[in-house]
Amino acid sequence: MYVCLCKAVTDKAIKQKVAEGVSTMRELKMCTGVGSQCGKCTCQAQQILHNELVRI
Ligand code: FES
Repeated sequence: MYVCLCKAVTDKAIKQKVAEGVSTMRELKMCTGVGSQCGKCTCQAQQILHNELVRI
C-alpha cells in the first residue's frame, strides 16, 4: 500500500528501511523522501515507523 503518493513510498519500503537501521522520521525522510512534498503522509509514515520499531 502506498503511504506517500508524492514520492511513491509504500509501507513495505518503510518497513524495509527500519530493518536496515532507520529509526527516526528524519532518517526515513532523507532516504525515501516520504513527507517531503505535501506532507499529508507524515502522520501515517510516523505510525508505521513507530509500529516497526516497537516490533523489532
Ligand atoms: Fe507524502 Fe505528499 S503524500 S509528501
